[in-house]
Amino acid sequence: MTPEIKLHLITPLCELWTGNADNIPFQDPFWAFYWPGGQAVARYILDNPQLMQGRRVLDVGSGSGACAIAAMKSGALNVTANDIDPVAATAIKMNAALNAVNIDVCKKNLVGESCDKWNCILLGDMVYDAEFTAQLLKWLRAFRCQRRLILLGDPGRQALRDIEDNCLTKVATYCLPKSACLENRGFTQACVWRFM
Ligand SMILES: C[S@@+](CC[C@H](N)C(=O)[O-])C[C@H]1O[C@@H](n2cnc3c(N)ncnc32)[C@H](O)[C@@H]1O
Repeated sequence: MTPEIKLHLITPLCELWTGNADNIPFQDPFWAFYWPGGQAVARYILDNPQLMQGRRVLDVGSGSGACAIAAMKSGALNVTANDIDPVAATAIKMNAALNAVNIDVCKKNLVGESCDKWNCILLGDMVYDAEFTAQLLKWLRAFRCQRRLILLGDPGRQALRDIEDNCLTKVATYCLPKSACLENRGFTQACVWRFM
């Protein structure tokens, strides 16, 4: 959904594609995929670059770094890509270099922290587990204020559908390309939600 961004991603030609848990060096290589929620957030930012003006951006659960790269390309002041997976940190650095943007990388678990140094939080496809989603939304509710921008991208996962949160407003819906539909078990669209 964002041809403006180049990413190193897994393909059927990669050993990792067919490897099993015993013969691959990585656990859960989430950073090797461009998740539909992340694609939606990145598309939304690239189409609305004015949202990134004056923003110090934190991309939580950055994975490949795509949303962080989109924020930087859209004119954010600075961007921190945050992921607790140390291998993701390497993927983010490689992808940032591929797109010629500077991105800080943070491997700390920031969920629950105050995060005052950022005035924008991005989350691409982070609501895949009910317990973690509840924790995440509680944190974001405490973090939000009128001058902070919080955007969350999601293809319609159950964990978010189960939560009625009147702080969340849908700001965009995108049809997923065929490849993303195939990789994501029948999801056909992805939405961007904004915390108000
Ligand atoms: C489904 S992937 C989404 C990646 C990327 N945002 C995208 O949309 O392509 C979720 C990512 O969140 C990371 N993650 C999980 N829990 C986290 C936490 N508490 N803080 C930061 N990252 C986390 C995982 O390591 C993984 O890279």
